[in-house]
Amino acid sequence: MAGAGDRSDAVEMVRAAADLHEVVSEYVSLKKSGARWRGLCPFHSEKTPSFYVDPEKQLYYCFGCSSGGDVFKFLMLYEKLDFPEALKSLAGRYNISLPQARGGETSERQKVVAVNREALTFFREQLARATGEKARRYLESRGIDREGAERFLLGYAPDGWSGLKDHLGRVSGQAREQREALAVVAGLLAHKEETGRTYDRFRDRVIFPIVNLADEVIGFGGRVLGDGEPKYLNSPETAAFSKGENLYGLPFAKEGIRREGHAVLVEGYMDAIALQAAGVGQAVATLGTGFTSGHVRLLKRFTDQVVVNFDPDAAGRQATRRSLETLLENGFEVRVVSLPKGKDPDRYIRDEGVGKYRERLAEALPYVEYLAREVGGRVDLGQARGKVQALNEILPFLARMDNPVRRASHVELLATVFGIEDRIVLQELKEAVRERRKSVGERVAAAAGGPRLLSEAEAGLVRAVMDDAAVRAELLPEVGETDMPTGRAAEIVRAVRRLSERGEEVTYPRVGQEIGDEAREVLTRIAALPHPPATLEAGRGCLSTLRATIFTRQMTDIQKRLEQSGSAAEINELLRRKLALKRQIEALRGVSAS
Ligand code: CTP
Ligand code: MN
Repeated sequence: MAGAGDRSDAVEMVRAAADLHEVVSEYVSLKKSGARWRGLCPFHSEKTPSFYVDPEKQLYYCFGCSSGGDVFKFLMLYEKLDFPEALKSLAGRYNISLPQARGGETSERQKVVAVNREALTFFREQLARATGEKARRYLESRGIDREGAERFLLGYAPDGWSGLKDHLGRVSGQAREQREALAVVAGLLAHKEETGRTYDRFRDRVIFPIVNLADEVIGFGGRVLGDGEPKYLNSPETAAFSKGENLYGLPFAKEGIRREGHAVLVEGYMDAIALQAAGVGQAVATLGTGFTSGHVRLLKRFTDQVVVNFDPDAAGRQATRRSLETLLENGFEVRVVSLPKGKDPDRYIRDEGVGKYRERLAEALPYVEYLAREVGGRVDLGQARGKVQALNEILPFLARMDNPVRRASHVELLATVFGIEDRIVLQELKEAVRERRKSVGERVAAAAGGPRLLSEAEAGLVRAVMDDAAVRAELLPEVGETDMPTGRAAEIVRAVRRLSERGEEVTYPRVGQEIGDEAREVLTRIAALPHPPATLEAGRGCLSTLRATIFTRQMTDIQKRLEQSGSAAEINELLRRKLALKRQIEALRGVSAS
């Protein structure tokens, strides 16, 4: 191996040794074209080759996208490496040893990485051997076969106190004591104060090595086989390892991220592995922490689009929020996958299959829309107060987005989801977003109290009679005058009834001609929003809900009159009516719930 004296020597030695054509050929198919080589540019998509490699000058250039540079630049761009990583990768390839950090001394970081590498060898051997039988069985029970274990470099730390310790003791090199001290720093051995003795820290656990982009083993996660506490034991923060600076699975995922144009962010080691193994190669996991600015820097090299798939429980939601803020602030486009409660991605694909997971992924909602729906489910959007509260919960997130175009595009979405038609509200909202204010003001509160919106039930009923002739024929006769006494939905349904009684076609444009401006606006919105196909059951459910709402309102009126009290006879009569209403509501709830 050739050795380099100092760092700039090393760079020059590597540059001299590296052959650009040879390196590029690994990624791009090149054909000879005069004195140069020509191929399809890997940095933009094109059909006719405009990417050239000049072996004489050792430079590449693309006439399509104007990217160009030397062998370092190529590797940095293609493999998303920083300069030291590219240098290291090329040095390794051309057998040039790089100078050690300062004065020929190996840095602590390098030492930790070296002892980790030793430990990984040991853990992997143990998994393959007879001692690893129960760990192999455990992994198989979780859908990871031998091939999967090898692919993700999984290992097994055997039960007992000195398996790894003895193994490290057999490796020649520094004095035993120094090596043990290092293994303690690396979190591989634990040190008992009283006796001064050291022992294996990972015992009877499946080992997930954490590897960085420079292919260094920087730490480990160890999982108990089955139940037990703590579920995971992790390497401590060391000179080589920081949870906030690394993502589990990134070396495996980088190709997938490049291919798909986005990363899928999950919480668990097992989730990342299960997704990778199932072919969702763009999955990476945080290491039991939230998403930090360190992660942002790392991921930004590959993509600025992230699909987040964190646990849907409450803690998950908090973590999700904080992580998403960090991503949004850094210009990431963020979408959110929600899986049914209690299912992490690993569980989900085992139960439902990866096909279903891909569908969920494709349907992931842009974050602001996800948030709007989540907030919309909690507050009463029929009330001015609810609308203002909902807006004010979301504006802080919009304000954090640093892309003005993207920010503005979300205003329309919010208006749709929250049913904001009022021009004043919309105006305020746009201003707040442009000024990056975190709340909308009084004017909105006043204005949002304007014309009543369609409820979900009204909208559902309108859809049912608009979208499907068979459903319409069944459902229309069931809708009575008292079910929808007034309002825009009633106007639409009346128009549909007239048209179908005359035997005319019922289409959105045709119905639109029959109704007033406000009702038409509502109808247009209903037509534009995505929704599942109309069914009779859904239509009937909406009808029941409408009736229940009306009865509930009547009950509230009765309650008010009861509180003002009157004669005993009057009270009795009111109580009787209240009870009757209550029964009717309960009966309807039974219908709409089934
Ligand atoms: N974690 C940890 N220590 C724990 C529990 C969790 O470091 N005691 C971290 C791990 O990185 C883990 C992640 O938090 O992968 C998510 O936790 P959890 O969802 O419980 O883990 P899973 O990967 O889903 O583990 P499994 O499916 O094996 O139960
Ligand atoms: Mn899990």
